[in-house]
Amino acid sequence: MSRQRIVAGNWKMNKTYEEGRALVKDIVGQLQPTETLVILCPPFLHLNSISGQIKDVRSLKLGAQNCHQEGSGAYTGEVSAAMLQSVGVEYVILGHSERREYFGETDELIAKKIDATLKEGLHPIYCCGEKLDVREAGGHLDLVAAQIKTALFHLSAADFEKVVIAYEPVWAIGTGKTATSQQAQEMHAHIRSLIASKYDQQVAGLTSILYGGSCNPSNAAELFSQADVDGGLIGGASLKAGDFVAIVNSF
Ligand code: PGA
Repeated sequence: MSRQRIVAGNWKMNKTYEEGRALVKDIVGQLQPTETLVILCPPFLHLNSISGQIKDVRSLKLGAQNCHQEGSGAYTGEVSAAMLQSVGVEYVILGHSERREYFGETDELIAKKIDATLKEGLHPIYCCGEKLDVREAGGHLDLVAAQIKTALFHLSAADFEKVVIAYEPVWAIGTGKTATSQQAQEMHAHIRSLIASKYDQQVAGLTSILYGGSCNPSNAAELFSQADVDGGLIGGASLKAGDFVAIVNSF
C-alpha cells in the first residue's frame, strides 16, 4: 500500500451559491480520471448542493473548513461533525492559521475538534505551520513538532491513520511567497519522522502530508516532486477551475 496523493481546494469565504455551483461544474468538466484524491472544501452553505454535483465523480470528495467540537446543542452559528457527515462531507480542515489568528483557536481546542470529526468517521486535515519570525529565528521545526504533539498525539494509531496533515507556513499563505521545495521537504520529512517515533514507520509511511501556501500551477510540480510532499492544500488557486485542475495534473 502506498500513501494517498491529495489535492484539496480551500475556498475560504469565497463564492456565492451560484458561483460555487459554476466552479464545481467547470472542475468536473475539466478533471481527467485520476488516482489523486481531489477534495473540494467550500463554505458550509455549498456543501449539500456540491455533494450532489460530485457524487458520480470517483476522485472528487467533499470537505468542510471547520466544525464545532461539541456534538450538538446551544452553540449559535456553529456546525457539528455529524451535520457535515449527513450531507456527504468526508474531510474537515482544522487548525488553519486563519482560524488560529482571527478566531483564537489553540491546539488544545483543535485537538477536541479532531476528536469530534473522528467520532463521526470524518478525516481531519490538520494544518500546522510557523510564522515568519519563528522561521527566521530557526524555531520552525520545534514549533511544528509542538503543534502536532498537542493536537494529534493523543490519538490511537488507528485514529491517527485517518488524519491528513497540511504543512502551511503562515508567511506563504496568500502572499505569493512559496516555500522552496527544499524548505517544504525538510519540514515534511521532519513531520514524518515525528510520526514514526510516536507511532511506527508504517503509520508514518502511510500519512499523507500536504503542502499549502501560494501553491499554483507553476510551482506545484516542483513541490509535489519532493519525496515527502504528497500533494497540496490550495487556497487562491482553487477558485479558478483551470488553475486548480492544472495543479491536480502536476503530479
Ligand atoms: P493560498 O492559501 O494557496 O491562497 O496561499 C492556502 C491555504 O490557506 O490553505
